[in-house]
Amino acid sequence: MALPPGATRLQLIDLHPPPADIADLVTRGMKRTPRQLPAWLLYDAEGSRLFDAICEQPEYSLTRTETALLERQAGALARALGPGVLVEFGAGSARKVSPLLQALRPQAYVALDISAEHVHSACQALQERHPEVPMLAICCDYSLLEQLPAHPWLDAGRRLGFYPGSSIGNFDPAEAEALLRRLRLLLGEDSRLLIGIDQPKAVERLEAAYDDRAGVSAAFAFNLLQRLNRDLAGDFVPERFHYEARWQSEHSRIAMALVSRQQQTVQLAGRDWHFAAGEPLITEYSVKYSPEAFLQLAGRAGWRGADRWSDPAGDLSLHLLEPG
Ligand code: AVJ
Repeated sequence: MALPPGATRLQLIDLHPPPADIADLVTRGMKRTPRQLPAWLLYDAEGSRLFDAICEQPEYSLTRTETALLERQAGALARALGPGVLVEFGAGSARKVSPLLQALRPQAYVALDISAEHVHSACQALQERHPEVPMLAICCDYSLLEQLPAHPWLDAGRRLGFYPGSSIGNFDPAEAEALLRRLRLLLGEDSRLLIGIDQPKAVERLEAAYDDRAGVSAAFAFNLLQRLNRDLAGDFVPERFHYEARWQSEHSRIAMALVSRQQQTVQLAGRDWHFAAGEPLITEYSVKYSPEAFLQLAGRAGWRGADRWSDPAGDLSLHLLEPG
């Protein structure tokens, strides 16, 4: 008897951090100066939906630019990558990988993301478009993963990492270096890494991209407070904060924050937290790297640049890295 389509070609492994670990991470983040929580906390079901909506905003061109570049260069990228198993980090809705799957026809596609529902439904949709590719969805915090779970599809060939969206910009440079080193470890000696890196550009463009007129970026940040209230017994009142996105040139990054409008005490994860008026809670950073600055960082993490593709305006680069 024939199996229903997709039944054996798509599998989900759930390694989501347990609630106790999340409470601990949040407590540590609240003790930092300035207060800063892990950016992946933004991506609950509603946050993932809001992030997809950000990508549709006229001010936020990163996703459109990268998607166009991937579509235009899919053939060249597939030739440069060569055969193997495609492993995407932070796949989210996995909207960018289709042209690569088409051109590369990998032995398997493995999607890692912090949102189980998001990554699973994304892979279901992809599976219909690419029925010949076995797909594995793994829900995890890939920045904390010691190794990829044992699975035959992951060992079907050389591992080709795919890390689009400039998501590495969410980490500060020391964390980013550690993450790149970890990706080398997860992908193995004979691997490749195709990574999208957003570059510095005019301040007005950058600040508008992270604080769009429709208010979707702000809603994305405010959703974090809802999540904390729900999952960690918080009592944040959103109206007591305002959203801000500022370019910090000395760090080459956008800092996104919810700034306390007043002096206040908030309960969260079983403790009281005092906020001074004007005190920020950093929801995320988005670091921008020039190609040179990024290759230096990658070099410190044991990768060397093998190739690079860029959009005509020079907003963003796709770097192909090899173990150095
Ligand atoms: C998913 C980290 C690449 O920094 O551009 C966009 C996240 N946050 N708007 C970015 C984000 C608010 C995004 N990354």
